[in-house]
Amino acid sequence: MILVAPSLLAADFANLQREVEEITEAGADWLHLDIMDGHFVPNISFGPGLVSALRSKTSLIFDVHLMVCQPEKFVAPFAEAGADYITVHAEACPDLYRVLRQIKEAGCRPGVALNPATPLSVLEYLWEELDLVLLMSVSPGFGGQEFLPFVLPKVAEAARRIKEAGKEIFLVVDGGVNMENAAALVQAGATVLVAGTAVFGHPSRAEAIKALKDLGSKSLS
Ligand code: DX5
Ligand code: ZN
Repeated sequence: MILVAPSLLAADFANLQREVEEITEAGADWLHLDIMDGHFVPNISFGPGLVSALRSKTSLIFDVHLMVCQPEKFVAPFAEAGADYITVHAEACPDLYRVLRQIKEAGCRPGVALNPATPLSVLEYLWEELDLVLLMSVSPGFGGQEFLPFVLPKVAEAARRIKEAGKEIFLVVDGGVNMENAAALVQAGATVLVAGTAVFGHPSRAEAIKALKDLGSKSLS
């Protein structure tokens, strides 16, 4: 099963409650929440207050993607705000293992995100600790960028490593995902497609979500 996680970053910020309710009804699986601090990435998005305000508006899984320096400082606030998954960037963590433990202790499921040029080898001793691996397919910081094709073989390699680990680990691809590359990504082994522009920029969110799911499941059959 392919999961679609619309990224709130591409939603209409003046109408967030309505946007979230619409994608919930449209069949989204997760809500992807991009947290940016203006240091780790050159942009600022929103914080735990907003995540907490949206928590009661939807039953969707909250997939919090922390694009921040020192993410250990923000695990507790986002856990309290209602995060289900908390994903930190390997590039932001000198002691990744410690942060993953901290996320679990806070009652959430831990994930690690890798920038496009970061090798999978940083996860070599950590597969057992992970519930999610997120591969960035654009440089993080902004929605609406073009998918970087060199990430496709990395997705395939990550899928092999997950299989070897013998554990259920979601393989998430984030950045520039659309109807043109969804099938190839799922064929390579992606199990969760994050899509900002492809969903919120589409005249019908329901159609966009369905199209991504159908492309994904067709490429598996
Ligand atoms: C980029 C974010 C992505 C982004 C996806 O820094 O992590 O989640 O918002 O948006 P699109 O699908 O428009 O690339
Ligand atoms: Zn993201």
